[in-house]
This record gives sequence, structure tokens and C-alpha cells, in this order.
Amino acid sequence: MNKKVCVITGANSGIGKAAAVQIAQKGYHVVMACRSRERSEAALQDVRRESGSAAVELMIVDMSLQASIRRFAEELLRAHPVVDVLIHNAAMFDIRQKERMVTAEGVEKVWATNHVGPVLLTDLLLAALKQSAQGRIITISSKGLMMYPFLQVDLQDPEFKARKFSVQKAYYQSKLAQVMYTYWLAEQLGETAVTANSIRVTNVQIDVDGRYPHMPALARRAYALKSKFSISPAKMAETYTYLATSAAVSDTTGAYFDDPEHVVSSSKYSQDKANIAQVMALTQTYLQKELA
Ligand SMILES: NC(=O)c1ccc[n+]([C@@H]2O[C@H](COP(=O)([O-])OP(=O)(O)OC[C@H]3O[C@@H](n4cnc5c(N)ncnc54)[C@H](OP(=O)(O)O)[C@@H]3O)[C@@H](O)[C@H]2O)c1
Repeated sequence: MNKKVCVITGANSGIGKAAAVQIAQKGYHVVMACRSRERSEAALQDVRRESGSAAVELMIVDMSLQASIRRFAEELLRAHPVVDVLIHNAAMFDIRQKERMVTAEGVEKVWATNHVGPVLLTDLLLAALKQSAQGRIITISSKGLMMYPFLQVDLQDPEFKARKFSVQKAYYQSKLAQVMYTYWLAEQLGETAVTANSIRVTNVQIDVDGRYPHMPALARRAYALKSKFSISPAKMAETYTYLATSAAVSDTTGAYFDDPEHVVSSSKYSQDKANIAQVMALTQTYLQKELA
């Protein structure tokens, strides 16, 4: 029998990599959708070895670039016309970033990578997810949003063109938009068998030496301190694996999960249907065609 297919973006490191191991162990064919072949080949071998499964493959995608996402979707669909699970794990957040950066396609990078890219990728894979007996889309947000209970997506300036760039504000704005997008998606998918849920990721240990070998000492100390209050990537990945594979959530959609046991609430602003419509209308302006 064919294995179910699970696509995980940013699966070469951290939580995404740990989830790739766990989901492969559950008998899924895992596609690690990663930005750099060079950085991901070793991760692919690790995931195959640690999971004991050969049904793990690497495909390249830069989630900040729509051209790359389109090329990846075409390659993926040629190999896998049915997609069962899509996990939007990849994200850009580097506390050292002081200046606004723009992609080669002219979009602010955090917004492009963490919000617009996942929306486009879902749209391109939606028909394949609908082919699954029960497709699942999982977006990733952050518990850190709780520090910004009144945060809103800046509809006039999501890309920090006219306001001072802050990597924290850009990151949390993108993660807030992902939660709102998930609610919108769940509603759009209505009576289909495809579900859409979001995970509120807590503080998770980051491989600072591997990820940021040239990080200055002060930032390194900040990460070391954060690490003391953080859980392991494998522990956090258990929630990804649960939402991706458990029969218990096959009918659950539009929910925001803290861990397998807990559905939590996002801010009032993020749950408001008019606000969600505005954020999705804004998102649509970044895409070439109407969202399906
Ligand atoms: N760690 C935490 O405390 C924490 C807290 C809240 C939320 N989260 C969320 O949890 C998720 C996983 O984070 P993590 O802790 O596992 O971080 P991580 O180890 O830094 O992993 C991030 C992954 O995203 C990939 N990525 C970044 N930009 C990309 C792009 N343009 N295209 C494709 N892939 C790209 C990275 O690839 P490269 O190797 O190429 O850079 C890497 O594989 C993220 O969504 C993050 O926002 C984490």
C-alpha cells in the first residue's frame, strides 16, 4: 500500500527535523522541503537513520520566493499527486537582524517567508490535499505572541516600508497572520475532508552553534539563558506529529494547539472575522491569482 505523504518545510533543523523523524517512524513518506541542499543532505541522512525509514526525501524550496515555491510545488506534484499532510514549519527569525531585508522579488523577507510563502504553497497543493482521504494543513505560530496581546497586522505597512524595522515586530506580525490565515482556511475548506490547524510553539532549544556559528557573545548568552527555560525540539515535535497523524484529530479544524492535550485561544483581534478578511485581502495582493 502507498504510504501517506507528509511535506515539512524547514525540516533540516530543529523542530522540523525532529518532526520528520517522528512522522517517518509513523509510516509516512516524508518530504523534507528545505532551502539549501548543502545544509540539508546531512539532515536527510540523520532523519533516515534515526527513523529507520528510507521513505524520506529532500526537495529544495526557498519559502521567501514565489518562483521557488511554484517550482517546488510542480516537482512535488509530479512525484506525489496526493499530499496528505503539509506542515508550514520553516520560518525566518534572527534576533541579530537590525535592518529590513527585501527578497529578490521585492517583498520584505520575514513577511514573505513566514506568511505569504505558506499561503501560496498551500494554494498550490490544495488540489493534492483534497485528493487525500483526509488532508491536513498545519501552520506554526509562537507562544511569544502572548507578550503582544494587542498586536495587529499593519494593513497599511506590513513590510515596514514607512515604519522603523523591528525583527520582533515583523516576526510576531507574520505569526499572527498565520493564525488568522488558519482560521480563514478552516472556514474555506468547510465541508471538505481537509483540516487546518495551528500550533503555538513554546520556547524550544535552538542549535545555536550549528545555526549561528558567528553569533556575537552577548546574543549567544541570551540564547543560552533562553535554552534553560526551553523544551527540546523532539518534545515540541510531538505536537506536530500528533496533529499530522493522530486519528483523534481527523475532524478537528480551525483550532490553535499548545500541545496535544490543549487547544488554546488566540487574541480577540485574531479571531474577529472582519479582521481576518482584511488580512486575507491584504495577503491576496501579494499573489498572482485568486486564492482557491
Ligand atoms: N525555537 C523556538 O523557541 C520557537 C518559538 C516559537 C515558534 N517557533 C517556530 O517553530 C518553527 C521551527 O523553529 P526551530 O526552532 O526549529 O528553528 P530553526 O532550527 O532555526 O529552523 C528553522 C528552519 O526554517 C528554515 N528556513 C528559514 N528560512 C527559510 C526559507 N526562506 N525557505 C525554506 N526554509 C527556510 C531554516 O532553514 P535554513 O537551515 O536554510 O536556515 C530551518 O530549517 C518556526 O516556525 C519558528 O518560528 C520556534
